[in-house]
Parts: sequence; structure tokens; C-alpha cells
Amino acid sequence: MDFSIKPLDAKSTITSLKTGCIAVGVFEDKKLSATAKALNAKGAIDSALQSGDITGKAGSTLLLRGTAGAGAERVLLVGLGKEGAVSEKDFTSALQAVVRVFGTLGAKDAVIALPFDIVDKRDTAWGVRAAVLAAREAAYRFDVMKSKKEPPASGVAKIAFAVSAAEANAAKNAATQAVAVANGMDLTKDLGNLPANVCTPTYLANTAKKMAKDFKLDVEILDRKQIEALKMYSFLSVTNGTVEPPKFIVLKHMGGKAKDAPIVLVGKGITFDSGGISLKPGAAMDEMKYDMGGAASVLGTMRAIAEMKLKLNVIMVIPSCENMPSGSATKPGDIVTSMSGQTIEILNTDAEGRLVLCDALTYVERFKPAVVIDAATLTGACITALGHHNSGLFTRNDEAHDALANELLAAGKEAGDTAWRMPIEDSYQEQLKSNFADMANIGGPAAGAVTAACFLERYTRKYTWAHLDIAGTAWKSGAAKGSTGRPVPLLTTFLIKRAQAAK
Ligand code: BES
Ligand code: MN
Ligand code: ZN
Repeated sequence: MDFSIKPLDAKSTITSLKTGCIAVGVFEDKKLSATAKALNAKGAIDSALQSGDITGKAGSTLLLRGTAGAGAERVLLVGLGKEGAVSEKDFTSALQAVVRVFGTLGAKDAVIALPFDIVDKRDTAWGVRAAVLAAREAAYRFDVMKSKKEPPASGVAKIAFAVSAAEANAAKNAATQAVAVANGMDLTKDLGNLPANVCTPTYLANTAKKMAKDFKLDVEILDRKQIEALKMYSFLSVTNGTVEPPKFIVLKHMGGKAKDAPIVLVGKGITFDSGGISLKPGAAMDEMKYDMGGAASVLGTMRAIAEMKLKLNVIMVIPSCENMPSGSATKPGDIVTSMSGQTIEILNTDAEGRLVLCDALTYVERFKPAVVIDAATLTGACITALGHHNSGLFTRNDEAHDALANELLAAGKEAGDTAWRMPIEDSYQEQLKSNFADMANIGGPAAGAVTAACFLERYTRKYTWAHLDIAGTAWKSGAAKGSTGRPVPLLTTFLIKRAQAAK
């Protein structure tokens, strides 16, 4: 799919554009956007509105052919909602409707001529970014594992965005950036959707190696021996039950100044979570192939910022293994010593994400990070708390962490990839008390997402840190089962803002 910018000026006007289809906005109560007005010189759009065939409700559409006075073969009217009160949700549902119709057309190219800056506090760059991401979302297919590939999606392959000449540059940069984000999200989705017998820790490591080669990044893959030498016995306890080799993956994008402290991203990379000896029930266990969603999202984020050549130092770390039961698997009650020296009583082998993450969070101290952010499909309890709309965002509550939390919440909101803040407090820490070790790896049934975050918190006291529990947002179940690519948009937006602030 190809994107370009069509600057509008005295010579290149809405009516003169030669294209397979032009999409313009209409509002409720039969009101027209500026581009719709331009096409309405002969009253064709007015009469479509009068007919009642389109209400202007956000996301409603009406396709017209042979519109008098239009150079385009088709005019697609799309509802934007109430004039003067178009919400982000209205605008994205309009974009989704446009690309859905584009996908069904015989036309090869099309122009989107919507008011990209119509949402309050959002500019044209934001609107163009949203349009690219909507188009790429609609175009995503995962059929590498099918013997018969789906026929290539019909419809429009080239989309241009009509903007004023003054905004053409900003729009072009936004589109380029959005394509990088979409490429990152596609990688995240592919890795998530691949089955666990293909997407192993070794596969994730090879993906990082290939990315390092393609984008000239530094990569380091630690194998079992090296992981042992680092005394990551908590991480290693999770891999005891499987013959699949564990990998500890480090990837560096050093686009900033040499002296600038890096931002570190840590992703949970459990390529299959059976629960281990604390075996999960059979229903939907296949979805535990998605338990490397954190790893996939930090890899996707690295791909996006590498393609953008973002001027920022970012280091990605992934502890990756399988969690399987066997005669050599970790048993409930086993006690291990983490890399930090703290001991852990493993009361439930299914609470394995925190066991791999705690050693990764200790490892990253060596980078003297500005910030560490981990992303993990950590708890079913987070789905109970927040459902599938928001990722859970956890930080400590001092001033620096409040600022970081607000930065991440704002990035999520801007990117349409939202998070919601959850507590970390000493009162919850008490639930992790163990009679036999420094801590237990579970905190009982109450507030499971919070106690999991509290466990991680004990390994992050040397730096500023945030945790994203993406159990409810990384993939969809049911008929539309598949990876969502989240939280790549949130993370990349956060990093882009950081790079701008560092200028
Ligand atoms: N990977 C799961 C969390 C999960 C479960 C994500 C279902 C998405 C859907 C994690 O390793 C896990 O099993 N967590 C346990 C923790 C419990 C044993 C304290 C859970 O959530 O049940
Ligand atoms: Mn588990
Ligand atoms: Zn898990």
C-alpha cells in the first residue's frame, strides 16, 4: 500500500483531482465539510443528503458515481458526526469506514480529502497518521501458515491525502512516520500470530538479529550458559520444564547523543505459557502462544523507531523461554535466588512472567537508564480489572513517576492505544509475604494485577520505571482472533515525544 500527499492550491483543486475515488466529509443535520462544499457546485451532494441516504452520523458512508463537476470517478461521502463536536472516536470510525469502502472498489487509487485537523486539540499531522494506520490495519493479513493464500486484497492500493499546500510538509512527515509505526505493528502482529512451534525463543532472537542487520543496530543474544553466568536463576526456573533453549535478547538503537542515558524497553517473551506444573485449563490454552506479546511489541517498537532513524538512545531487552511441565520442571514450593540476590518461593508456576522479568529488570541496571518500561501479558486479573480497552499502567507514586505515568497516558491517548493507571502501594506488597523466602511469587486472589506489579517493583528501585500489563490488549479472542499490535502505538508515540524534547 502506497501513501502520498496531494497539496491543494489554485491549480490543483478538489474538483480537478483525477482519481478513482475521492472521500469527503459530511456532518449531521445535512452540513457539508469544506471539500464537500467544493464538490457541491452543481448541488450533487446536497441532493444526496436530501435523499436521506446518508445521515452524517460518524462512520456512515454513501458512494456516488458520475458526480457532476467532479474530476474523480467516484465520490465517497463519509459521516463525521456533529459539526464542531467531532470526537477522536468519530474521526477514527469515519477513517475506518473510508478504508473499508476503498477495499471493495474497482479503483486503483483514491484521495482522502477529510478535514484532518477537525478533532479538538489534534492537528493535520495527527489526522494523517490516524488515516495511514487505519488503512494499514484494514490491509493486514496473516496467511503464511495457510497452504492456499487468500487472494490479494482487492481495492485501492494508492491513497493520497489532500491537504493545504501550507500543511503538505507536516503531513508528509506524519505519513512517513505512520508507515514506520504500521511496519512495526505488522511485525508485532506476525510474531504474535505465529504458533509457538514456529515462534520459539530462538525465532525471536533471529528476528532481533535480522533487524540489527537490516537497520544497523547492535544485537546481543545470550544463551543458557551466559544466562547462568549472570545468575538469573529466577528466569532459568521457568525454562526447566522444556527442551526449547531459552534466549536473552538485547537490541540497541543508539540514535541519540552518546552521553544521553538510554530509555530501556523490556518485553515478556514467554513463547508458550502452559502454566507449567500449575497447569492451565485446556480451554483457549492455544492463546498462550500470545504470551510473548510484550516481546513482540518492543521488537515492533524498535523496528518503527529504527526505520524513523529516531534521534534517541533506546535499548530493548527480552527474556524469552517456554513455560512447560515435565519431570524437570519447577515445582510449587521451590525456592530460587534471583539475579538481584532476593529469594523467591514459587507457589504457582503459572505466575512465571514476573519470574523472567525480575531478572531482566535487574540486568538493565547496567545501562544506567533514564527510564525503564516493561510490557507484559502478565495477569488475567488485569483483564478482569480493565477489560480489553486499556492496558494497565503501573508506577510508583512519587513526583518523577507521576510525571512518567502522565507522559505515557498522554502518549496512549494521542495514539489511540490507551492505558489506565493502577496503584502500587505498600499495603499490597504485604500480600507477597512468604514464610520461607524473601517473597512469594503470588499474592492471593485479590488485586492480582496489582500484586504482580508490586512483585516487579521490588526489582526496579535503582531507576525510574513503568509497567504495562497488556494481557487484555495485546490480542483479540473469538472469531476475530489475532494480535492487535498494541502497545506499539503508545510506545512509539512516547519515544517520538521524548526525542522531540531532547532536541
Ligand atoms: N500469561 C498469563 C496471564 C494471562 C492469562 C494473560 C490469560 C492473558 C490471558 C500469566 O503468566 C499467568 O498465568 N498469570 C496468572 C497469575 C496467577 C497464577 C497469580 C493468572 O493471571 O492467572
Ligand atoms: Mn502463566
Ligand atoms: Zn504467562
